[in-house]
Amino acid sequence: MKVLVVGGGGREHAVVKKLKTNPEISEIFVLPGNGGIARDATCVPIAAKDIASIVSFAEANAVDYAVVTPDDPLVLGCVDALEEIGVPCFGPRAAAAHIEGSKVFAKALMKKYGIPTASYESFDDMDKALAYLDAAPVPTVVKADGLALGKGVIIARTREEAKQAVTEMMRDHKFGRSGEQIVIEEFLEGPEVSVLAFTDGKTLVPMVSSMDHKRAGDRDTGLNTGGMGTVAPNPYYTEAVAQRCMEEIFLPTVKAMNAEGRPFKGCLYFGLMLTKDGPKVIEYNCRFGDPETQVVLPLLESDLFTVMRAVTEERLADVEVKFAGRSACCVILASKGYPEHYEKGFPLEIPEAIADQVFVAGAARKDGALVTNGGRVVGCTAVADTLPQAVEGAYRLASQVRFDNSYCRSDIGQRALLALGEA
Ligand code: AMP
Ligand code: GLY
Repeated sequence: MKVLVVGGGGREHAVVKKLKTNPEISEIFVLPGNGGIARDATCVPIAAKDIASIVSFAEANAVDYAVVTPDDPLVLGCVDALEEIGVPCFGPRAAAAHIEGSKVFAKALMKKYGIPTASYESFDDMDKALAYLDAAPVPTVVKADGLALGKGVIIARTREEAKQAVTEMMRDHKFGRSGEQIVIEEFLEGPEVSVLAFTDGKTLVPMVSSMDHKRAGDRDTGLNTGGMGTVAPNPYYTEAVAQRCMEEIFLPTVKAMNAEGRPFKGCLYFGLMLTKDGPKVIEYNCRFGDPETQVVLPLLESDLFTVMRAVTEERLADVEVKFAGRSACCVILASKGYPEHYEKGFPLEIPEAIADQVFVAGAARKDGALVTNGGRVVGCTAVADTLPQAVEGAYRLASQVRFDNSYCRSDIGQRALLALGEA
Protein backbone atom coordinates (compact mmCIF):
# COMPACT_ATOMS: atom_id res chain seq x y z
CA MET A 1 0.00 0.00 0.00
CA LYS A 2 1.09 3.54 -0.71
CA VAL A 3 0.49 5.96 2.12
CA LEU A 4 0.67 9.73 1.98
CA VAL A 5 1.40 11.85 5.05
CA VAL A 6 0.69 15.59 4.89
CA GLY A 7 3.01 17.75 7.01
CA GLY A 8 6.69 18.22 7.66
CA GLY A 9 7.65 18.48 11.33
CA GLY A 10 8.78 16.33 14.23
CA ARG A 11 5.24 15.07 14.74
CA GLU A 12 5.07 13.81 11.15
CA HIS A 13 8.47 12.15 11.56
CA ALA A 14 7.13 10.28 14.62
CA VAL A 15 4.05 9.20 12.64
CA VAL A 16 6.20 8.05 9.70
CA LYS A 17 8.55 6.00 11.90
CA LYS A 18 5.55 4.19 13.37
CA LEU A 19 3.84 3.62 10.01
CA LYS A 20 7.09 2.19 8.61
CA THR A 21 6.84 -0.78 10.95
CA ASN A 22 3.73 -2.05 9.13
CA PRO A 23 4.77 -4.59 6.46
CA GLU A 24 1.68 -3.87 4.33
CA ILE A 25 2.97 -0.39 3.54
CA SER A 26 5.29 -0.39 0.52
CA GLU A 27 5.89 3.34 0.20
CA ILE A 28 5.35 6.45 2.33
CA PHE A 29 5.22 9.88 0.69
CA VAL A 30 5.48 12.93 2.94
CA LEU A 31 4.29 16.31 1.63
CA PRO A 32 6.47 18.32 2.11
CA GLY A 33 8.39 16.37 4.80
CA ASN A 34 11.89 17.65 5.52
CA GLY A 35 15.54 16.70 5.08
CA GLY A 36 15.48 14.46 8.15
CA ILE A 37 12.21 12.71 7.37
CA ALA A 38 13.76 11.89 3.97
CA ARG A 39 15.82 9.20 5.75
CA ASP A 40 12.59 7.28 6.42
CA ALA A 41 10.22 8.22 3.57
CA THR A 42 9.93 9.87 0.16
CA CYS A 43 9.57 13.62 0.68
CA VAL A 44 7.91 15.67 -2.05
CA PRO A 45 8.08 19.49 -2.02
CA ILE A 46 4.35 20.21 -1.96
CA ALA A 47 3.21 22.56 0.81
CA ALA A 48 0.81 21.18 3.43
CA LYS A 49 -1.69 23.96 2.66
CA ASP A 50 -1.65 23.39 -1.10
CA ILE A 51 -4.73 21.16 -1.15
CA ALA A 52 -5.10 21.14 -4.96
CA SER A 53 -1.53 19.89 -5.47
CA ILE A 54 -1.89 17.30 -2.68
CA VAL A 55 -5.00 15.91 -4.37
CA SER A 56 -3.30 15.81 -7.81
CA PHE A 57 -0.29 14.06 -6.29
CA ALA A 58 -2.48 11.45 -4.59
CA GLU A 59 -4.31 10.78 -7.84
CA ALA A 60 -1.18 10.62 -10.01
CA ASN A 61 0.61 8.28 -7.60
CA ALA A 62 -2.34 5.98 -6.85
CA VAL A 63 -2.12 6.65 -3.12
CA ASP A 64 -4.17 4.15 -1.07
CA TYR A 65 -4.44 6.02 2.22
CA ALA A 66 -3.65 9.48 3.57
CA VAL A 67 -2.80 10.78 7.03
CA VAL A 68 -3.33 14.51 7.49
CA THR A 69 -1.78 15.85 10.71
CA PRO A 70 -1.30 19.68 10.66
CA ASP A 71 -4.09 22.07 11.64
CA ASP A 72 -4.08 24.23 8.49
CA PRO A 73 -4.80 21.56 5.86
CA LEU A 74 -7.40 19.95 8.15
CA VAL A 75 -9.24 23.25 8.66
CA LEU A 76 -8.94 23.96 4.91
CA GLY A 77 -10.68 20.67 4.03
CA CYS A 78 -7.78 18.49 2.88
CA VAL A 79 -9.55 15.35 4.10
CA ASP A 80 -12.79 16.31 2.35
CA ALA A 81 -10.87 16.89 -0.91
CA LEU A 82 -8.96 13.59 -0.72
CA GLU A 83 -12.11 11.64 0.15
CA GLU A 84 -13.80 13.16 -2.89
CA ILE A 85 -11.29 11.39 -5.17
CA GLY A 86 -11.74 8.17 -3.18
CA VAL A 87 -8.67 8.27 -0.92
CA PRO A 88 -9.52 7.11 2.62
CA CYS A 89 -7.98 9.39 5.24
CA PHE A 90 -7.02 9.63 8.87
CA GLY A 91 -8.08 13.05 10.10
CA PRO A 92 -11.30 15.04 10.56
CA ARG A 93 -13.20 16.73 7.75
CA ALA A 94 -13.28 20.53 7.75
CA ALA A 95 -16.63 20.68 9.56
CA ALA A 96 -15.14 18.76 12.50
CA ALA A 97 -11.72 20.44 12.37
CA HIS A 98 -13.66 23.62 13.18
CA ILE A 99 -13.32 22.57 16.84
CA GLU A 100 -9.74 23.86 16.56
CA GLY A 101 -10.27 26.32 13.70
CA SER A 102 -12.65 28.50 15.73
CA LYS A 103 -12.28 29.12 19.45
CA VAL A 104 -15.65 30.92 19.44
CA PHE A 105 -17.22 27.72 18.09
CA ALA A 106 -15.36 25.49 20.59
CA LYS A 107 -16.39 27.66 23.55
CA ALA A 108 -20.03 27.80 22.43
CA LEU A 109 -20.01 24.01 21.98
CA MET A 110 -18.75 23.51 25.54
CA LYS A 111 -21.30 25.96 26.95
CA LYS A 112 -24.20 24.35 25.08
CA TYR A 113 -23.29 20.81 26.12
CA GLY A 114 -22.12 21.54 29.67
CA ILE A 115 -18.48 20.57 29.13
CA PRO A 116 -16.30 22.13 31.86
CA THR A 117 -14.14 25.02 30.63
CA ALA A 118 -13.16 28.57 31.67
CA SER A 119 -16.14 30.96 31.71
CA TYR A 120 -15.98 33.41 28.81
CA GLU A 121 -17.51 35.99 26.53
CA SER A 122 -16.94 36.20 22.77
CA PHE A 123 -16.82 39.43 20.77
CA ASP A 124 -16.84 40.57 17.16
CA ASP A 125 -16.93 44.24 18.14
CA MET A 126 -13.81 45.84 19.60
CA ASP A 127 -15.56 48.58 21.57
CA LYS A 128 -17.76 46.05 23.32
CA ALA A 129 -14.72 43.93 24.17
CA LEU A 130 -12.89 46.93 25.60
CA ALA A 131 -15.94 48.00 27.63
CA TYR A 132 -16.29 44.45 28.99
CA LEU A 133 -12.67 44.53 30.16
CA ASP A 134 -13.36 47.61 32.32
CA ALA A 135 -15.13 45.35 34.79
CA ALA A 136 -13.45 41.99 34.10
CA PRO A 137 -11.33 40.34 36.79
CA VAL A 138 -7.57 40.04 36.10
CA PRO A 139 -5.52 38.11 35.19
CA THR A 140 -7.66 37.38 32.16
CA VAL A 141 -7.03 35.52 28.92
CA VAL A 142 -7.56 36.96 25.43
CA LYS A 143 -7.72 34.52 22.52
CA ALA A 144 -7.94 35.11 18.77
CA ASP A 145 -10.76 33.03 17.28
CA GLY A 146 -8.83 31.39 14.46
CA LEU A 147 -5.49 29.67 13.90
CA ALA A 148 -2.55 31.90 14.84
CA LEU A 149 0.54 29.66 14.80
CA GLY A 150 0.11 29.05 18.53
CA LYS A 151 0.54 32.77 19.26
CA GLY A 152 -3.08 33.86 19.52
CA VAL A 153 -3.41 33.39 23.30
CA ILE A 154 -2.47 36.28 25.60
CA ILE A 155 -2.44 35.85 29.37
CA ALA A 156 -3.01 39.46 30.54
CA ARG A 157 -1.96 40.31 34.09
CA THR A 158 -3.59 43.74 33.97
CA ARG A 159 -6.59 45.33 32.24
CA GLU A 160 -4.20 47.50 30.22
CA GLU A 161 -2.40 44.42 28.88
CA ALA A 162 -5.72 42.82 28.03
CA LYS A 163 -6.91 45.95 26.21
CA GLN A 164 -3.66 46.11 24.27
CA ALA A 165 -4.09 42.48 23.19
CA VAL A 166 -7.68 43.15 22.08
CA THR A 167 -6.61 46.25 20.14
CA GLU A 168 -3.76 44.42 18.41
CA MET A 169 -6.05 41.59 17.38
CA MET A 170 -9.16 43.54 16.39
CA ARG A 171 -7.87 46.92 15.18
CA ASP A 172 -4.34 46.14 14.01
CA HIS A 173 -5.21 42.68 12.63
CA LYS A 174 -2.07 41.14 14.15
CA PHE A 175 -3.38 37.67 13.33
CA GLY A 176 -5.25 38.66 10.17
CA ARG A 177 -8.79 37.32 9.95
CA SER A 178 -8.12 34.99 12.90
CA GLY A 179 -8.55 38.01 15.18
CA GLU A 180 -11.82 39.32 13.73
CA GLN A 181 -13.56 37.56 16.58
CA ILE A 182 -12.05 36.99 20.00
CA VAL A 183 -12.73 35.15 23.22
CA ILE A 184 -12.04 36.70 26.62
CA GLU A 185 -11.98 34.05 29.30
CA GLU A 186 -11.42 33.33 32.93
CA PHE A 187 -7.81 32.68 34.00
CA LEU A 188 -7.52 29.12 35.32
CA GLU A 189 -4.82 27.63 37.51
CA GLY A 190 -3.54 24.10 37.97
CA PRO A 191 -1.33 21.50 36.34
CA GLU A 192 -1.79 21.10 32.58
CA VAL A 193 -2.27 17.76 30.89
CA SER A 194 -2.43 16.90 27.19
CA VAL A 195 -4.57 13.92 26.23
CA LEU A 196 -4.67 12.76 22.62
CA ALA A 197 -7.48 10.38 21.76
CA PHE A 198 -8.39 8.23 18.78
CA THR A 199 -12.04 8.55 17.90
CA ASP A 200 -14.18 7.33 15.02
CA GLY A 201 -17.20 9.33 16.15
CA LYS A 202 -18.64 6.36 18.03
CA THR A 203 -15.83 5.11 20.26
CA LEU A 204 -13.12 7.19 21.90
CA VAL A 205 -9.85 5.68 23.07
CA PRO A 206 -7.51 8.01 24.97
CA MET A 207 -3.79 7.57 24.41
CA VAL A 208 -1.26 7.78 27.22
CA SER A 209 -1.33 11.28 28.81
CA SER A 210 1.52 13.74 28.39
CA MET A 211 2.95 17.05 29.61
CA ASP A 212 4.21 19.78 27.30
CA HIS A 213 6.78 22.47 28.20
CA LYS A 214 5.66 25.49 26.22
CA ARG A 215 7.97 28.27 27.40
CA ALA A 216 11.38 28.81 25.82
CA GLY A 217 13.33 29.04 29.10
CA ASP A 218 13.99 26.91 32.17
CA ARG A 219 11.44 27.05 35.00
CA ASP A 220 8.77 28.13 32.50
CA THR A 221 10.27 31.53 31.76
CA GLY A 222 10.53 33.35 28.43
CA LEU A 223 8.25 33.33 25.42
CA ASN A 224 5.69 30.73 24.47
CA THR A 225 6.96 28.30 21.84
CA GLY A 226 5.47 25.42 19.90
CA GLY A 227 6.77 23.20 22.74
CA MET A 228 10.33 22.59 24.02
CA GLY A 229 9.84 19.07 25.30
CA THR A 230 7.34 16.54 26.60
CA VAL A 231 7.03 13.64 28.98
CA ALA A 232 4.53 10.78 29.12
CA PRO A 233 2.68 9.69 31.10
CA ASN A 234 1.74 12.86 32.98
CA PRO A 235 1.89 12.07 36.73
CA TYR A 236 -0.95 14.50 37.54
CA TYR A 237 -3.28 12.47 35.33
CA THR A 238 -4.31 9.81 37.81
CA GLU A 239 -6.78 7.01 37.19
CA ALA A 240 -9.48 9.00 39.02
CA VAL A 241 -8.84 12.12 36.93
CA ALA A 242 -8.86 10.02 33.75
CA GLN A 243 -12.24 8.57 34.62
CA ARG A 244 -13.69 11.99 35.33
CA CYS A 245 -12.33 13.36 32.05
CA MET A 246 -13.84 10.48 30.13
CA GLU A 247 -17.28 11.07 31.66
CA GLU A 248 -17.35 14.86 31.83
CA ILE A 249 -15.24 15.89 28.84
CA PHE A 250 -14.20 13.27 26.28
CA LEU A 251 -17.43 11.39 25.62
CA PRO A 252 -19.61 14.53 25.90
CA THR A 253 -17.38 16.20 23.26
CA VAL A 254 -17.78 13.30 20.82
CA LYS A 255 -21.55 13.33 21.38
CA ALA A 256 -21.74 17.11 21.03
CA MET A 257 -19.91 17.02 17.69
CA ASN A 258 -22.30 14.33 16.44
CA ALA A 259 -25.30 16.34 17.61
CA GLU A 260 -23.98 19.38 15.73
CA GLY A 261 -23.68 17.32 12.53
CA ARG A 262 -19.88 17.49 12.69
CA PRO A 263 -18.82 13.93 13.54
CA PHE A 264 -15.16 13.91 14.50
CA LYS A 265 -12.91 11.13 13.15
CA GLY A 266 -9.19 11.18 13.75
CA CYS A 267 -7.07 12.30 16.68
CA LEU A 268 -8.80 14.70 19.06
CA TYR A 269 -6.46 16.57 21.38
CA PHE A 270 -7.69 17.74 24.77
CA GLY A 271 -5.60 20.46 26.42
CA LEU A 272 -6.75 20.22 30.04
CA MET A 273 -6.16 22.13 33.23
CA LEU A 274 -6.67 20.27 36.49
CA THR A 275 -8.23 23.06 38.56
CA LYS A 276 -9.39 22.80 42.16
CA ASP A 277 -12.92 22.55 40.74
CA GLY A 278 -11.97 19.61 38.54
CA PRO A 279 -10.55 19.14 35.04
CA LYS A 280 -11.42 21.85 32.53
CA VAL A 281 -10.77 22.21 28.81
CA ILE A 282 -8.18 24.86 27.89
CA GLU A 283 -8.19 24.02 24.21
CA TYR A 284 -9.18 21.43 21.65
CA ASN A 285 -6.92 20.55 18.75
CA CYS A 286 -8.18 18.56 15.79
CA ARG A 287 -4.91 16.64 15.43
CA PHE A 288 -1.91 15.05 17.09
CA GLY A 289 0.01 17.52 19.29
CA ASP A 290 3.58 18.48 18.54
CA PRO A 291 5.77 17.52 20.50
CA GLU A 292 3.30 15.33 22.46
CA THR A 293 3.21 12.83 19.59
CA GLN A 294 6.98 12.36 19.92
CA VAL A 295 6.46 10.78 23.38
CA VAL A 296 3.02 9.21 22.90
CA LEU A 297 3.61 7.20 19.72
CA PRO A 298 6.89 5.63 20.90
CA LEU A 299 4.85 4.14 23.77
CA LEU A 300 2.17 2.72 21.45
CA GLU A 301 2.55 -1.05 21.24
CA SER A 302 -0.33 -1.65 18.84
CA ASP A 303 0.16 -1.10 15.12
CA LEU A 304 -0.59 2.56 14.29
CA PHE A 305 -1.74 1.91 10.72
CA THR A 306 -4.22 -0.74 11.91
CA VAL A 307 -5.66 1.69 14.46
CA MET A 308 -5.82 4.54 11.94
CA ARG A 309 -7.69 2.45 9.40
CA ALA A 310 -10.10 1.27 12.08
CA VAL A 311 -10.84 4.94 12.85
CA THR A 312 -11.46 5.68 9.16
CA GLU A 313 -13.75 2.67 8.81
CA GLU A 314 -15.58 3.40 12.08
CA ARG A 315 -14.63 0.14 13.74
CA LEU A 316 -12.31 1.47 16.44
CA ALA A 317 -14.21 -0.58 19.04
CA ASP A 318 -12.93 -3.75 17.36
CA VAL A 319 -9.19 -3.10 17.54
CA GLU A 320 -6.78 -3.14 20.43
CA VAL A 321 -5.00 0.11 21.30
CA LYS A 322 -2.29 -0.79 23.75
CA PHE A 323 0.37 1.39 25.34
CA ALA A 324 3.53 0.20 27.07
CA GLY A 325 3.47 0.79 30.82
CA ARG A 326 6.75 2.70 30.49
CA SER A 327 7.81 6.36 30.34
CA ALA A 328 9.04 8.61 27.58
CA CYS A 329 10.76 11.99 27.45
CA CYS A 330 11.39 14.19 24.41
CA VAL A 331 13.92 17.04 24.55
CA ILE A 332 13.73 19.57 21.73
CA LEU A 333 16.95 21.08 20.36
CA ALA A 334 16.14 24.50 18.94
CA SER A 335 18.02 27.20 17.08
CA LYS A 336 19.26 29.97 19.37
CA GLY A 337 16.80 32.87 19.19
CA TYR A 338 13.70 30.67 18.63
CA PRO A 339 10.76 31.49 18.89
CA GLU A 340 11.87 34.86 17.51
CA HIS A 341 14.79 35.43 15.14
CA TYR A 342 17.27 32.66 14.49
CA GLU A 343 19.77 31.60 11.83
CA LYS A 344 19.44 28.53 9.62
CA GLY A 345 21.71 26.51 7.37
CA PHE A 346 24.16 25.06 9.93
CA PRO A 347 25.40 21.49 9.35
CA LEU A 348 23.32 19.07 11.47
CA GLU A 349 24.93 15.84 12.71
CA ILE A 350 22.74 12.98 13.93
CA PRO A 351 24.76 9.81 14.65
CA GLU A 352 23.23 6.88 12.76
CA ALA A 353 23.21 4.76 15.93
CA ILE A 354 20.57 7.03 17.53
CA ALA A 355 18.70 8.15 14.38
CA ASP A 356 15.65 6.04 15.24
CA GLN A 357 15.16 8.06 18.42
CA VAL A 358 15.57 11.46 16.78
CA PHE A 359 12.55 13.14 15.21
CA VAL A 360 13.58 15.86 12.80
CA ALA A 361 11.44 19.00 12.82
CA GLY A 362 13.47 21.60 10.93
CA ALA A 363 16.18 20.38 8.56
CA ALA A 364 16.92 20.49 4.85
CA ARG A 365 19.37 18.63 2.61
CA LYS A 366 22.10 20.64 0.98
CA ASP A 367 24.53 18.83 -1.33
CA GLY A 368 23.44 15.57 0.30
CA ALA A 369 24.12 16.71 3.88
CA LEU A 370 21.64 17.77 6.57
CA VAL A 371 21.47 21.44 7.55
CA THR A 372 19.24 23.19 10.08
CA ASN A 373 16.15 24.81 8.59
CA GLY A 374 13.83 25.84 11.40
CA GLY A 375 13.37 27.07 14.95
CA ARG A 376 12.77 23.66 16.41
CA VAL A 377 15.38 21.42 14.78
CA VAL A 378 15.08 17.95 16.35
CA GLY A 379 13.33 16.16 19.20
CA CYS A 380 15.25 13.38 20.99
CA THR A 381 13.01 10.77 22.61
CA ALA A 382 14.05 8.12 25.10
CA VAL A 383 11.73 5.39 26.36
CA ALA A 384 12.56 3.68 29.65
CA ASP A 385 10.98 1.80 32.52
CA THR A 386 10.86 4.88 34.73
CA LEU A 387 10.54 8.62 34.14
CA PRO A 388 13.94 9.51 35.69
CA GLN A 389 15.60 7.05 33.29
CA ALA A 390 13.68 8.42 30.31
CA VAL A 391 14.66 12.00 31.16
CA GLU A 392 18.29 11.05 31.54
CA GLY A 393 18.17 9.05 28.32
CA ALA A 394 16.64 11.92 26.33
CA TYR A 395 19.36 14.33 27.48
CA ARG A 396 22.01 11.75 26.62
CA LEU A 397 20.61 11.53 23.09
CA ALA A 398 20.38 15.32 22.82
CA SER A 399 24.06 15.67 23.74
CA GLN A 400 24.99 13.57 20.70
CA VAL A 401 23.12 15.69 18.13
CA ARG A 402 25.23 18.61 16.99
CA PHE A 403 24.67 21.91 15.18
CA ASP A 404 25.88 25.46 15.75
CA ASN A 405 23.75 27.76 17.92
CA SER A 406 21.70 24.91 19.37
CA TYR A 407 19.87 25.28 22.67
CA CYS A 408 17.50 23.23 24.77
CA ARG A 409 15.79 23.62 28.11
CA SER A 410 17.68 21.84 30.85
CA ASP A 411 14.60 21.05 32.97
CA ILE A 412 12.32 18.99 30.73
CA GLY A 413 10.57 16.49 32.99
CA GLN A 414 11.56 18.16 36.26
CA ARG A 415 8.04 19.26 37.14
CA ALA A 416 6.79 15.73 36.51
CA LEU A 417 9.60 14.27 38.62
CA LEU A 418 8.69 16.67 41.43
CA ALA A 419 5.08 15.52 41.27
CA LEU A 420 6.33 11.93 41.55
CA GLY A 421 8.57 12.94 44.45
CA GLU A 422 11.66 11.94 42.47
CA ALA A 423 13.37 15.27 41.74
P1 AMP B 1 -2.87 27.60 23.52
O1 AMP B 1 -2.16 28.45 22.51
O2 AMP B 1 -4.36 27.58 23.36
O3 AMP B 1 -2.22 26.25 23.62
O4 AMP B 1 -2.62 28.27 24.95
C1 AMP B 1 -1.32 28.47 25.36
C2 AMP B 1 -1.23 28.33 26.83
O5 AMP B 1 -1.92 29.41 27.46
C3 AMP B 1 -1.86 27.09 27.43
O6 AMP B 1 -1.04 25.97 27.37
C4 AMP B 1 -2.06 27.54 28.87
O7 AMP B 1 -0.86 27.41 29.60
C5 AMP B 1 -2.37 28.99 28.73
N1 AMP B 1 -3.82 29.24 28.84
C6 AMP B 1 -4.74 29.19 27.87
N2 AMP B 1 -5.97 29.45 28.36
C7 AMP B 1 -5.82 29.68 29.69
C8 AMP B 1 -6.71 30.00 30.75
N3 AMP B 1 -8.02 30.17 30.56
N4 AMP B 1 -6.19 30.15 31.99
C9 AMP B 1 -4.86 30.01 32.22
N5 AMP B 1 -3.97 29.70 31.24
C10 AMP B 1 -4.44 29.54 29.99
N1 GLY C 1 1.90 21.03 21.76
C1 GLY C 1 0.69 21.71 21.56
C2 GLY C 1 0.15 21.66 20.19
O1 GLY C 1 0.47 20.81 19.39
O2 GLY C 1 -0.66 22.51 19.87
